[in-house]
Amino acid sequence: GQLFKVAVLPGDGIGPEVMAEALKVLDAIEKRYDVKFERTHANVGGAGIDLEGRALPETTVNICKASDAILFGSVGGPKWETLPPDEQPERGALLPLRKIFGLYANLRPAIIFPSLTSASSLKEEVIAGGFDILVIRELTGGIYFSQPKGIDGEGRERVGVDTMRYSVPEIERIAHVAFQAARKRGKKVCSIDKANVLSTSVLWREIVINIAKEYPDVELSHMYVDNAAMQLVRWPKQFDVILCENMFGDILSDEAAMLTGSLGMLPSASLAEGTFGMYEPSGGSAPDIAGQGIANPIAQILSAGMMLRYSFGMVEAADAIDNAVARVLDEGYRTRDIYQEKAGEKLVNTKEIGDAIIANL
Ligand code: NAD
Ligand code: IPM
Ligand code: MN
Repeated sequence: GQLFKVAVLPGDGIGPEVMAEALKVLDAIEKRYDVKFERTHANVGGAGIDLEGRALPETTVNICKASDAILFGSVGGPKWETLPPDEQPERGALLPLRKIFGLYANLRPAIIFPSLTSASSLKEEVIAGGFDILVIRELTGGIYFSQPKGIDGEGRERVGVDTMRYSVPEIERIAHVAFQAARKRGKKVCSIDKANVLSTSVLWREIVINIAKEYPDVELSHMYVDNAAMQLVRWPKQFDVILCENMFGDILSDEAAMLTGSLGMLPSASLAEGTFGMYEPSGGSAPDIAGQGIANPIAQILSAGMMLRYSFGMVEAADAIDNAVARVLDEGYRTRDIYQEKAGEKLVNTKEIGDAIIANL
């Protein structure tokens, strides 16, 4: 059988709680398919700070380097928010991980499961028949990473600076990812920008139009980001692949997540050139519900499924995970974030919905 090495980085808040369920799913996949996932746990984020003195310990980076993929929970929380910004879990661990491993392509699929239509914040008429949106977010450039960046000066004279910068090759490679993904699905790319204001967006639009010539079978449209935020809630079915720069994709993917019922449903894959990737829920450490065992583990479980699909080529097993999640939702299992108090619904905790998913695999 095949052997894959997985770096397991549960992180903070609900991270370890939802990770435990995803690992149970990997156990179940090992039993059904001829495969072994050799897992090495490592500290990251607040857990890294507390246990090893820094958000991204070198041991953690080395474990990731020795692995075929990273399964990541989430990092951050109130406990570490008073540290210097660059030492905090987000800027000290998550962003460096994305940069170190060249994870420039972030795929966030927002799909409405049929039995969850009433959990969406949109009216049932608007989402009837479902939608299937793939947000493709550029993940290692733009305002998150460009220099200069920081706070200069003293007291009231201080100035905060962030820079948004995109090079032609950075735009080209993420555009290719979007067109190639669209080719395998609805054959439409909507590129999001703010080309009426931002120079990065003017260049972005020009380059995306150029790359589109290589994909005559894919229909390209452009939308300003403010309009896109509105169109997503007005009529999500108009979208297939949404292509965004880093910060626009961060914001629009949380919005798209809620259309599916809960941020706890939205997985993500962060891909480099080749097969290496990091897989993590799109949402965060949810300090408001951490430690209670009630978080929705579906985003983490679907992220593990994306790892099988994109890094390990295990399409059948990945489909089996997606189908098991759909069946459990059909059976009425609901964590609190997707619970509607409707007949047939069963309010369950993190572990119980994880067990139900495994029973349906
Ligand atoms: P959040 O995503 O953690 O939470 C937003 C809301 O969604 C909360 O009400 C939370 O309870 C809910 N939610 C999120 N995931 C859920 C789940 N699986 N099940 C049920 N409910 C869920 O965002 P926030 O509150 O803005 O940030 C909290 C911390 O997480 C911050 O430190 C932030 O920087 C960090 N964060 C980390 C990541 C990451 O590690 N990838 C992503 C986003 C935010
Ligand atoms: C996400 C998160 C991160 C981001 C934060 C925690 C740095 O919000 O993965 O969406 O903004 O990319
Ligand atoms: Mn985000």
